[in-house]
Amino acid sequence: MKSIIPAAGLGTRFLPATKSTPKELLPVLNKPVIQYVVEEALEPEGVSEVVIVNSHEKPQIESYFTVDQDFEDMLRARGKGADADKVHAAASLPVTFAYQDDPKGLGHAVLCAKDAMDGEPFFVLLGDYFVPERQMCVNMAKVSREHGGASVIAVAPVPADQVSRYGIIAGQQVGSLAGEAGPEEPGAVWKVTGLVEKPAPEEAPSHLFIVGRYLLSPRVMELLETQGPGAGGEIQLTDAMQRLLDEQEMYALVVDPMEGCDTGTPAAWAATNARLALQDPSQRAAFYEALGTDTI
Ligand code: G1P
Repeated sequence: MKSIIPAAGLGTRFLPATKSTPKELLPVLNKPVIQYVVEEALEPEGVSEVVIVNSHEKPQIESYFTVDQDFEDMLRARGKGADADKVHAAASLPVTFAYQDDPKGLGHAVLCAKDAMDGEPFFVLLGDYFVPERQMCVNMAKVSREHGGASVIAVAPVPADQVSRYGIIAGQQVGSLAGEAGPEEPGAVWKVTGLVEKPAPEEAPSHLFIVGRYLLSPRVMELLETQGPGAGGEIQLTDAMQRLLDEQEMYALVVDPMEGCDTGTPAAWAATNARLALQDPSQRAAFYEALGTDTI
């Protein structure tokens, strides 16, 4: 089983930085954002490989995930063995690439990885967000197992005035992952009866938005092949999933979005750096010292 990370975007929110550095390689502390997502994508049992859907304009991502023996040898010759080990570990992650050179939307990006999926269920992890503890997809796989291998998406509550930014689900709660979660509390499991991409507030069927973690039936790939453009003129993954509902069951797991870190805008990326620095005992003191304060 494999995971897909769409990464072909231009990263316009981070210009001018992203003129020459793909946004996926911007670091959070000393690790590129996409490495956190790759490590998260490999966490569920049975996931053996991550397929990054890249554009040919961003070869730096491939370079990062390719072993460079000369570079590692140079580091070791300078007594930087621990750094060489980190570089090698990242480059050795089981990552392959598919390409989307024409940005036609998330559904199209996912379809670009179809041949690599071997007709099996697959995860999709959007790369502007990562979960340091890596348990969100693991929990989704658990919900899927409890429902006969059905597709499962992660969702979370969003204020009514923000529904038009996201994919929104319709459905009802059918259980809880553990304990007794209320309908919009983390751990609640919903049976999905509808999905709509970027609805107007008065048309949103609930306040639960798709946070960007999907475990999907291989049938979605076939549906994407005939999926026409939807919201924003783009081929939407949400629209193909809506069509899947005519044929197969789908479930949603309510998660706490703060379980993960947002890196989608400069402000969110900066906050994520601060959050991880404060959580890391080896960084916390230096972070406060650099900030010139002992609180934040
Ligand atoms: C995409 C999905 C949307 C989802 C969102 C999460 O939208 O199409 O359903 O809610 O990611 O970030 P985008 O952010 O690409 O517009």
